[in-house]
Amino acid sequence: MERLLIRGGNSLDGDIRISGAKNAALPIMAGTLLADGPSVIGNIPDLHDITTTMELLGRMGVRLTVDERMRVEIDPRSLTNCHAPYEMVKTMRASILVLGPLLARYGEADVSLPGGCAIGTRPVNLHVEGLRALGAEISVENGYIRARCSRLKGARLVMDLVTVTGTENLMMAAALADGTSVIENAAREPEVVDLANYLNAMGAKISGAGTDTITVEGVERMQGAHYDVLPDRIETGTFLVAAAMTRGRIRVKNTAPPLLDSLIAKLRDCGADIAIGDDWIALDMDGRRPKAVNVRTAPYPAFPTDMQAQLCALNAVADGVGMVTETVFENRFMHILEIQRMGAEVKLEGHTAISTGVEYLTGAPVMATDLRASASLVLAGLVAKGDTLVDRIYHIDRGYECIEEKLAQLGADIRRMPGELAVNHA
Ligand code: UD1
Repeated sequence: MERLLIRGGNSLDGDIRISGAKNAALPIMAGTLLADGPSVIGNIPDLHDITTTMELLGRMGVRLTVDERMRVEIDPRSLTNCHAPYEMVKTMRASILVLGPLLARYGEADVSLPGGCAIGTRPVNLHVEGLRALGAEISVENGYIRARCSRLKGARLVMDLVTVTGTENLMMAAALADGTSVIENAAREPEVVDLANYLNAMGAKISGAGTDTITVEGVERMQGAHYDVLPDRIETGTFLVAAAMTRGRIRVKNTAPPLLDSLIAKLRDCGADIAIGDDWIALDMDGRRPKAVNVRTAPYPAFPTDMQAQLCALNAVADGVGMVTETVFENRFMHILEIQRMGAEVKLEGHTAISTGVEYLTGAPVMATDLRASASLVLAGLVAKGDTLVDRIYHIDRGYECIEEKLAQLGADIRRMPGELAVNHA
């Protein structure tokens, strides 16, 4: 298993280009299934989750062609089956996003239930209830969601809680339904808006995306479309936090600054000078130690849960006491135990991590447990004295494109190490 070796102590300095958003690319790639013809999707990040999605679509018989600029042509006309197998869904929960499109376009879907995951139970009950309300017959058999329908029928869908992929699945299903659907208490995340824009480019009639009420007037058919995925706000945020922690100065380019308001406000609170352009954000700590900040995660436009672990890493070395409260997922503090091993003074009280910042952390071998937790350990390694070896970095490869190359480009001392050779004791 590959690992990242980081020798801490360097301030980040320079410019970095942000990739397309994983969490927009995944639903958009699933959304291509709704069309009668091929779509061409640009600004796709080169990530494991994208490869997994390509493999998943490929196994359904969908034809995919990738060009050298990571533009992917996806042609669903050759689809032969509507099956998302367990071995794929267990590696990537977002595979559930094919459920709505398959059902709406082909009248059937057999999608494995995702099962447990490192950041809590993460059920998909709201996806299933919503599709039932649209007229699907759904049962769970042998660990699979078995969904069947003739044409789905528009309905009013009131979501019990805000779910991002749930909103996306239902929006895609409703796009080809007979009649109008209204999704209330919908997720307002920018990635939901990006998906709605893509679906509208395909001929869907969706309004209200980005608010908590989305109206979908069903259409009979949709065509393929050319579409570029929006920039990744979480990758952007991760680099900004890394620069703040290392007391550095960076400019992130090809990003979408308005999507990062809540994080930018926190970074200003911690003492960063921030300048914003049309598609770039510059952060300068001018060698200062960041001040600890209090953060509470919640659905967009509040502070994103996907930036929570990185803020915990920042508070670990910041000046003062900072409190980070997680309200979206039940068990998303696995990184705390690892950061403690690097000398952080942090304790958990219920869903809140309370840190008293230390001047510096000390390098240690640490284990990544999920995608964003692993990012926080890399950030911690950047400010630790000595070497940090982050194990199980397949988590980080799921969601960050060439993270070590980008950090090295900014001056970090970071290297990818090949996995340990198996020792044969026989
Ligand atoms: C998406 C993002 C993920 C992010 C999360 C919250 C993608 C591919 N992933 O995940 O990076 O951390 O949003 O911003 O876009 N829930 C239920 N029943 C359901 C669905 C969700 O109880 O049917 C609960 C979840 O357990 C969780 C909360 O709702 O506590 C929010 O989860 P949700 O927004 O659905 O997360 P994902 O869409 O899986």
